[in-house]
Amino acid sequence: MEIESDFLVIGSGIAGLSFALKAARFGRVNLVTKKDNTESNTNYAQGGIAVVVSPEDSFQRHVEDTLEAGAGLCHPDAVEMLVREGPCGVRELMDWGVRFSLRKAGVFDLGREGGHSVKRIVHAADLTGREVERALVAAAKANPNITIFENHQAVDLLTEHHLKDKKQDGIHCWGAYVLDEGREVVFTFKSMVTFLATGGVGQVYLHTTNPGIATGDGIAMAYRAGASVANLEFTQFHPTTLYHPDANSFLISERLRGYGAVLKTKDGRTFMENYHPQGCLAPRDVVARAIDNELKKRGEDYVLLDATHLDKEGLRSHFPTIYQKCLSYNLDVTEEPIPVVPAAHYICGGVVTDLDGRTSIEGLFAGGEVACTGVHGANRLASNSLLEAVVFSDRAVKGTVKYWKEHKGKLPLIPTWSDEGTFDPEEWVLISHDKQEIQRLMWDYVGIVRATHRLKRAQERIQLIAKEVEDFYRKTRVTEGLIELRNITTVALLIIESAMRRKESRGLHYILDYPNTDDKYWKKDTIL
Ligand code: FAD
Ligand code: SIN
Repeated sequence: MEIESDFLVIGSGIAGLSFALKAARFGRVNLVTKKDNTESNTNYAQGGIAVVVSPEDSFQRHVEDTLEAGAGLCHPDAVEMLVREGPCGVRELMDWGVRFSLRKAGVFDLGREGGHSVKRIVHAADLTGREVERALVAAAKANPNITIFENHQAVDLLTEHHLKDKKQDGIHCWGAYVLDEGREVVFTFKSMVTFLATGGVGQVYLHTTNPGIATGDGIAMAYRAGASVANLEFTQFHPTTLYHPDANSFLISERLRGYGAVLKTKDGRTFMENYHPQGCLAPRDVVARAIDNELKKRGEDYVLLDATHLDKEGLRSHFPTIYQKCLSYNLDVTEEPIPVVPAAHYICGGVVTDLDGRTSIEGLFAGGEVACTGVHGANRLASNSLLEAVVFSDRAVKGTVKYWKEHKGKLPLIPTWSDEGTFDPEEWVLISHDKQEIQRLMWDYVGIVRATHRLKRAQERIQLIAKEVEDFYRKTRVTEGLIELRNITTVALLIIESAMRRKESRGLHYILDYPNTDDKYWKKDTIL
């Protein structure tokens, strides 16, 4: 079956929803999302949104902090745009109904995070993302020009690859094949404009702050379709997630360090002063590597984040979710330090876009974590991600509307999905353990500190798995698990390939064979 619209949006996080709400002013929007409409990385964001709203702050300072964290690879024009358009983006979120925490009427309660030289994080207590999702989903549901398809998973983008008559210049995207998970049928969602907003890749790693949806689908689909992807070696590990067998890498927000919590080794000694002048509030790559180093040096499993010296009532009211979550594991953060470890958190690279969200494929635009706009360089500054999603989705609306007006009515005939000759996935059990194997290989060999021989080992093993998965995919009726496994495999190999190409250490990519930064040869993006 075919379902057509003026704009197709894939993903219902902050990028997809904010794009949809604006595109709906011009035409009909279909938004597909693979779980329920709020399930996204956005929904779990804690710290907040970095934005210049205080008289003590300036655009210049936010730009400088972003460039400094990005270790020489940020694109200055993209950063400038992010920072200058940030306040407008935050105002728009408020117009859609997002309620941020205030110190008093009309004054944001600003927090601070690693790498920021001043307090500039607007937030909704420690549940910023949930508040953003709540408001944007409600606004999208109320908009008659937007139709949301929950439990609909994009399988692949529709491009020349799917046409019988392939006579076209360049590569074009006309929508996506989408699996209706309930009915187990693949539909053809057609549109002259496709906005990819599928988020991150955390599930490629064994330990991650990301929810189950973060399987790199957008990067894998775009790459398969022929789009350029870049800077995938820059996987960001968040320094502080709760160390507890049942906690599933629950994030302990960096804003807690901004509030005064201090990192210590198990024997109660501080250590961050030995690594960076900003101590516990150094950029994230520095803190994660310092923790990794302390753990290896001391043969210990976790470090401590100590907030016990801080005002107890203040802690409870500013961090109610963290407080309650830790309490559910019998840990009162006002009385005891929190055991923490790093976990995979964010991908700085992604599908290459220009400043208006255009990818290298005609008709395919991207925004949010799936995109590589040039803002984050080799290391994202804390709380710049939600900001990037909202600012660059706005830019993309302008780009897409222009493209749509020029090309509407030119959709080609696209064959419907065929699963002829495939069988039901009874043999699923044979490859279901592949996901865990990839996650473990990535964690052990492609983690915070890398080495060429380890990368090669991971690459060889994952290549074998990739072949197995691809064979299985060709023969089997598609399921949600199989689509995700295929994408995880593709993205894992892309991360390794990017990491092997960069023969220096920079930002989040630290490799023992090349421990120094080499600006002469490597101050450039890794484009695949
Ligand atoms: P997401 O919010 O991840 O949305 C992606 C959407 O795409 C989801 O709806 C998903 O279901 C859907 N999707 C994926 N694949 C498919 C498919 N094949 N078919 C259909 N739908 C699909 N950043 C900050 O700036 N500040 C913070 O305080 C902050 N805290 C964070 C805390 C946590 C625990 C995590 C995990 C991240 C945090 N980040 C933070 C990062 C930030 O939340 C994300 O980078 C950002 O929300 C990404 O938004 P997005 O819209 O691009 O993607
Ligand atoms: C956090 O709250 O520590 C996460 C912030 C971010 O990822 O930007």
